Amino acid sequence: MPKKPTLLVATRNAHKTEEIRQMLAGSYMVEDLNGKDFPEVEETGTTFLANAKLKAQEISKLTSGVILSDDSGLEVDALNGDPGVYSSRYAGTDGDNEANNTKLMTEMAKLPDGTSRTARFRCVMVLAQNGEELAHFSGAVEGSIISELTGDGGFGYDPLFIPDGYEKTFAQLGDTVKNTLSHRANALNQAAEWLSENS
Ligand code: IMP
Repeated sequence: MPKKPTLLVATRNAHKTEEIRQMLAGSYMVEDLNGKDFPEVEETGTTFLANAKLKAQEISKLTSGVILSDDSGLEVDALNGDPGVYSSRYAGTDGDNEANNTKLMTEMAKLPDGTSRTARFRCVMVLAQNGEELAHFSGAVEGSIISELTGDGGFGYDPLFIPDGYEKTFAQLGDTVKNTLSHRANALNQAAEWLSENS
């Protein structure tokens, strides 16, 4: 059987990597930046696309081959789209999921009764090589925010997010279901199709 090509994902978020790895299991060996000697890329953009580009382009200047990046987050309508691009540092410290979820529950609890709790996860992926963007893709999944943490799976805001058409949170549904309907799945399917047509 021919050896699967390696795809380097410009992230240190092991949860993102694991989801991408599961979804691409048939076609790529997926690696991320953990344990590798790459610098931290500062996410100075104000959009998912800008940050996804920064990550893919900067890392692709430093190594050969195609790099995939993922910039993603949660947009809550009643909070004017927050936490949005600042999802990973909503409560101040980057990647503190527990504090971020507590802040989200606190902000939602301040809203008047009957306020819509609709929200969506968004994911923008960029493919880049030699510092240049090759293509970008966007995925989203609509849903709503519940008031209490529910479920043990997933990561980030998963225990507070119920996708439309389901009665369980992403944290309860588990990766197999999440990976068929998530924002990340949606963007990744497009990226994988692009790669199969262009490499
Ligand atoms: P990024 O690393 O700047 O793209 O920020 C991603 C942040 O968005 C994560 O730290 C989570 O807070 C949130 N996020 C993105 N995707 C997901 C997901 O699939 N489930 C739960 N939270 C997510």
